[in-house]
Amino acid sequence: MHDFPNGLESELERKGVTRRDFLKFCSAMAATLVLPPRYVDRIANALAAAPRPPLVWLEFQDCAGNTEALLRTSRPTVGDIVLNTLSVDYHETIMAPAGKAAEKSLYDTIEKNKGKYLCVVEGSIPMKDGGVYCTIGGKTALDLAKQVCGSAAATIAIGACSFSGGWPAASPNPTGAVGVKDAVPGITLINLPGCPANAANITATVVHYLTFGALPATDQLGRPLFAYGKRIHDNCERRAHFDAGQFVEEWGDEHHRQGWCLYKMGCKGPATYHNCPTVRYNDGMSWPVGSGHGCVGCSEPAFWDTMSPFYRRLPNVDGFGVEWQADQIGLGIVGGVTAAFAAHGVISAVRARQNPIAAHQDESTAKKES
Ligand code: SF4
Ligand code: F3S
Repeated sequence: MHDFPNGLESELERKGVTRRDFLKFCSAMAATLVLPPRYVDRIANALAAAPRPPLVWLEFQDCAGNTEALLRTSRPTVGDIVLNTLSVDYHETIMAPAGKAAEKSLYDTIEKNKGKYLCVVEGSIPMKDGGVYCTIGGKTALDLAKQVCGSAAATIAIGACSFSGGWPAASPNPTGAVGVKDAVPGITLINLPGCPANAANITATVVHYLTFGALPATDQLGRPLFAYGKRIHDNCERRAHFDAGQFVEEWGDEHHRQGWCLYKMGCKGPATYHNCPTVRYNDGMSWPVGSGHGCVGCSEPAFWDTMSPFYRRLPNVDGFGVEWQADQIGLGIVGGVTAAFAAHGVISAVRARQNPIAAHQDESTAKKES
């Protein structure tokens, strides 16, 4: 394996992380990215050798949950260190400078590294009334996003809000909030939705970029396939109970404690794509369904509107309890959603050029109609 010319070695040593731990991390990243084991060495060599690109982190209308998820891991992992070793030149929540000094740091970074830096966006962008509902240093979030994302090598939209507006965009969406893809169309963008996004998927996306010099392959919603290519329902540890027709009927009942299926309690796992059951949250500790709560579909577009009421079961699903029927149920739901998006996608793409809010509303309507 390479030496670590970029300072990673001393950082690893300082945090008490051995080379063995580092290689274990590279193996875990290969597994998360669904790459065969032969890529472990390539990832290790790339991380050891790659110059760290500057990174700026913009935060708009949100709750800072993605920042919290990334920063509040229970122990320093190699992933934290790899991310920390990125040159994070601007992150309002954690940076020491404030006011003019912070602004200078941002503009110096984008000026000196045009086309080379990574941009992370957390939070939605208000479009209504000229974008006045979110301004930083006298600039609207929209103007900042256009300027900073427009000159970045790539933008990573993390969390539900920067993906499709999140809770600020929930009906009646008073600020006309949208995600990055609608506010700044045409940029190099990858979406990592979730509420919050999983720190493991953020790390894996950065590792992929450092290893291959490109963002990972995505689905039609711009989400990486390694993390959003499979339905929750297909990897869920409660799936055998679904297939057997064994459902929790009441919170805290005996079957809830025994880990039976949460479908009747409103679980949206059959209509949600995310790797939560396999990667899990909090250093692999658990995930919503594992902890006894149904999935609320937080990685799907406009989930606050389209997946609620969260405790009502998915509509038009009957005959569950047999394996082939369960698959048919999932395909039926997802097929309906996909068809609705395909039909509205063309209209949205055209309208997005003229009116991003209307295009976003098309998308929400499509999900509601499906
Ligand atoms: Fe798991 Fe929810 Fe599917 Fe039941 S409905 S198997 S709890 S994902
Ligand atoms: Fe979100 Fe469902 Fe995973 S609520 S965190 S997509 S289990």
